[in-house]
Amino acid sequence: MKSTTDLIALARAAALKAHAPYSGFHVGCAVESTDGQVVTGANMENACYRLGICAEQAALSAAQHAFGLRNVARVVVAGGMLADGAIGGCDPVTPCGGCRQAIHEAAALSGRDVTVISASATGDAMQEMTIAKLLPAAFGPDALD
Ligand code: THU
Repeated sequence: MKSTTDLIALARAAALKAHAPYSGFHVGCAVESTDGQVVTGANMENACYRLGICAEQAALSAAQHAFGLRNVARVVVAGGMLADGAIGGCDPVTPCGGCRQAIHEAAALSGRDVTVISASATGDAMQEMTIAKLLPAAFGPDALD
């Protein structure tokens, strides 16, 4: 397992690879598996605005391919506005509602709660939550049994 500091560094590095020319808000996400594998992703916007995808969903898709959604243990998100070639901002980036739903899918598959760590662009501010706390009373795969 990587340290939280290392995972935040990976999420921040991923944010630099975002394609976010429309909002200017660059988000990176690192997803760690229960056995310490890590994949990353970043938000990818589109000229057709509504087709943009969030960093968490990009990283979760990579996680499914690398080690399976059911093995997701920690999701780390970091980012902020790009200005003068650097990503800035003091507030931790918490996953949007849709991304919480996507993280819940991973948690529901294994029956394990998933840790969600949000960091600011600089990595100075961070908060740790769980998906159950971020998305209480969630709709999930069990509803479709
Ligand atoms: N964004 C993410 O990538 N993840 C989130 O959880 C919040 C928002 C992206 C979507 C869009 O490209 C930009 O940030 C501004 O909303």
